Amino acid sequence: MKKFYLTTPIYYPSGKFHIGTAYTEVLADFIKKYKKMQGYDTFLLTGTDEHGQKIQDKAKEEGKNPKEYVDIQAESAMKLWKEMNIDYDKFMRTTDKYHEIAVQKIFERFLAQGDIYKGEYEGWYCKPCESYFTETQLVDGKCPDCGREVSKMKEEAYFFNMKKYADKLLKYYNDNPDFIKPEFRKNEMINNFIKPGLEDLCVTRTSFSWGIQVPSDPKHVIYVWLDALTNYITALGYTSDNEELYNKFWPADLHIVGKDIARFHLIYWPIFLMALNIPLPKTILVHNWYTMKDGKMSKSKGNVIYPEQLIERYGLDATKYYLLREIPISTDGMFTPEGFIERYNSDLCNDLSNLLNRTVSMVNKYFEGYVPKYNGIQNSVDESIENDAKNTVKTFENYMENYEIANSIQTIWNFISRSNKYIDETSPWNLAKEMNENQEKLKSSIYHLIANLKQIAIMIRPFMESTSDNILRQIGIEKENINWDSLNDYEKIEGIKVIEKGEPIFMRLNQEEEVQYIKDLMKK
Ligand code: MSP
Repeated sequence: MKKFYLTTPIYYPSGKFHIGTAYTEVLADFIKKYKKMQGYDTFLLTGTDEHGQKIQDKAKEEGKNPKEYVDIQAESAMKLWKEMNIDYDKFMRTTDKYHEIAVQKIFERFLAQGDIYKGEYEGWYCKPCESYFTETQLVDGKCPDCGREVSKMKEEAYFFNMKKYADKLLKYYNDNPDFIKPEFRKNEMINNFIKPGLEDLCVTRTSFSWGIQVPSDPKHVIYVWLDALTNYITALGYTSDNEELYNKFWPADLHIVGKDIARFHLIYWPIFLMALNIPLPKTILVHNWYTMKDGKMSKSKGNVIYPEQLIERYGLDATKYYLLREIPISTDGMFTPEGFIERYNSDLCNDLSNLLNRTVSMVNKYFEGYVPKYNGIQNSVDESIENDAKNTVKTFENYMENYEIANSIQTIWNFISRSNKYIDETSPWNLAKEMNENQEKLKSSIYHLIANLKQIAIMIRPFMESTSDNILRQIGIEKENINWDSLNDYEKIEGIKVIEKGEPIFMRLNQEEEVQYIKDLMKK
């Protein structure tokens, strides 16, 4: 059986996750479920990134010790993913003992190999914040966090020799065109970081203690990114007594990351793996961001929307549909209440729900609820709709191959529109007026509509599971044995019984009222 190992970043558990953060997870879950339906042995890794100054400070603010704090936050992340029906296989926590031990082994190996060396870290230090900043991070020459004076300080630290691997990394990029998607991210890395000369990376800190200690020099803790990135292999048991999962699933087929953390994944991570002498992931997919009208989502701006809020009012499927459909992976997109409600009304209610409703009611009206027998292609309209059905699957699969997620979903909706148009083209109500003469045509029309709905229900299944269940139930198809191969059985619907009275799967919303409702949510 072919395997597919994919990962999301492990999240900083430093607050509630908004829809932007949830986007990475929704993308990963969709891809995983699609691969699973195709018969892959899948493994989706997610989790929380629990060390570092930021977390230590947050815990202090709340009067908790860091471990107490991250325990609570990790729980709430798991609860959210459960609510969003995220089918992860492992929830990684970087404070888990096995991970800490593995990171220490990796650090000591790098040290022994000479990839890590001891040097001096120099930067602008803010005493009250106990933090270093680079020249460019300062605001008017002062601490960007508290606005106080900073002073130039030096301290002993360990560095990873990135320079040594720069040429090897460039060569790898060039020899492996699928390694980075979309491609312009590769050029960004080359032009902004590699060509100007890679700096060695400071991989330890002594200014705070909430981290994994360097075993051979315990006053140092290991830099959070060296700690966090290795989770992709330690989660599979790398360097532990049981490396079964690692042997089965590594190298990863896909890492999904947001654009802000591209550099860590496209430069440091591959170099760490080269230093460990193990294979690199096949693809790293970098996605852009959801923004708001007034820029970045942030609590202080009062423009944040949380996934639970949308799910509670509009359901999980509508929320996932919007997130996946609205922005292409490679450009930023805006979340707007108007856009959300518009998509709900036009795509889900007008297009999808109406197609189902009209079809089910016609099967009842003209054929007593049973899908009629269809005697093969009768005319060019039949031929064209069958070709469209086949092409929809092919186009969708091609987009998915390249992780062009919004395009793949749009392909399904094109087919939904096409099917609605097919109703108008074949006008079953006219055919029914002269039943004797037009019986075959009428049968063909109804037959194709049910076949199309079955295909649509299968194709939306990886991201709209309960809607898919609902469609299949209404058209009388058992969902138990549905997988991606079922798309080849376009034919197998004759004689099935649809439900007597169709139920709308999405009801039209009042645009104005709902837009206001979402705007009010953002202010909370
Ligand atoms: N802890 C690091 C990842 C370590 S991976 C070895 C981290 N965590 S995070 O919680 O800050 O971000 C998690 C993911 O959420 C990232 O992929 C980030 O890009 C994504 N997003 C955060 N805000 C987002 C939007 N507004 N829109 C889309 N994605 C966003 O980084």
